[in-house]
Amino acid sequence: MGRPLALVTGASSGIGACFARALAARGYGLILVARRKERLEALAGELGAEVLVANLTKDAELKLVEDRIGAAENVELLVNNAGFGVMGRFWEAAVEGQDNMHRLHVLATMRLTHAALRGMMARKSGGVINVSSVAGFVQAPGSTSYGATKRWMNAFTEGLYLELKSIGSPVKVQALCPGFTYSEFHDVAGMDRNLIAKSLWMRAEDVVAASLRGLDRGNLFVVPGWRYKFLVRLLAVVPDGLRRWGSLVYARRAKRA
Ligand SMILES: NC(=O)c1ccc[n+]([C@@H]2O[C@H](COP(=O)([O-])OP(=O)(O)OC[C@H]3O[C@@H](n4cnc5c(N)ncnc54)[C@H](OP(=O)(O)O)[C@@H]3O)[C@@H](O)[C@H]2O)c1
Repeated sequence: MGRPLALVTGASSGIGACFARALAARGYGLILVARRKERLEALAGELGAEVLVANLTKDAELKLVEDRIGAAENVELLVNNAGFGVMGRFWEAAVEGQDNMHRLHVLATMRLTHAALRGMMARKSGGVINVSSVAGFVQAPGSTSYGATKRWMNAFTEGLYLELKSIGSPVKVQALCPGFTYSEFHDVAGMDRNLIAKSLWMRAEDVVAASLRGLDRGNLFVVPGWRYKFLVRLLAVVPDGLRRWGSLVYARRAKRA
């Protein structure tokens, strides 16, 4: 069967490319998935990886990736990382973008996890990391679909975690929930990075290192950085009304800036 394989979606930039480098350093063979072929090939050349060019919002291309996972038989780690943000009020932003976001964050995550878990359950080893977001713990005006799909990722991962625990399985699942991280995400979403305090930004390398430490420990939720850990703990204990009020204040401030 050779080296254990890791399949990373959204490996052509940002957090996904960092996962690829960190996993190569851990001795995994790699399958890198995204739409931009040249980017993937450049990274694959550096790491000795396989490239799978696929737009995961398209059924047929998603199926190719599912089939590749099934054929490999030794995908030991799946990183569902591909994702993007759309800024703007739900009813004003194009519905196609929201539709693609649901396909990518929800459907692709669900289908690829299903494809990977079948082999992992049979072999009784492996893991799945779903790259969610701190946004999965709190809704904010202007990113309704983003927050909703990331909340789904959190709920889905927690459900799987419980199912696996209930049968004593050693297979691990993790919802990685970063806050603001330097990558191409904000260029794609058309967001001005200068509107966010410098102290809130994290390096993708540090986010990935926290995730892999969490995977070793079998942690369900990994929230990198003490500021975000504090925020998520706070959100868990404040009353819902106060949480919503906080979101509205944040949104009004962001609009004025
Ligand atoms: N950066 C942040 O502040 C932040 C915070 C919290 C969570 N996250 C999450 O982290 C994950 C990675 O984002 P990032 O920050 O690394 O942003 P990024 O640099 O923009 O990377 C996004 C990756 O997703 C891929 N992708 C997008 N649409 C795709 C599609 N339809 N099919 C296949 N691949 C697709 C992109 O590749 P191609 O364009 O080549 O397809 C790219 O490799 C996302 O799920 C995001 O929601 C990011």
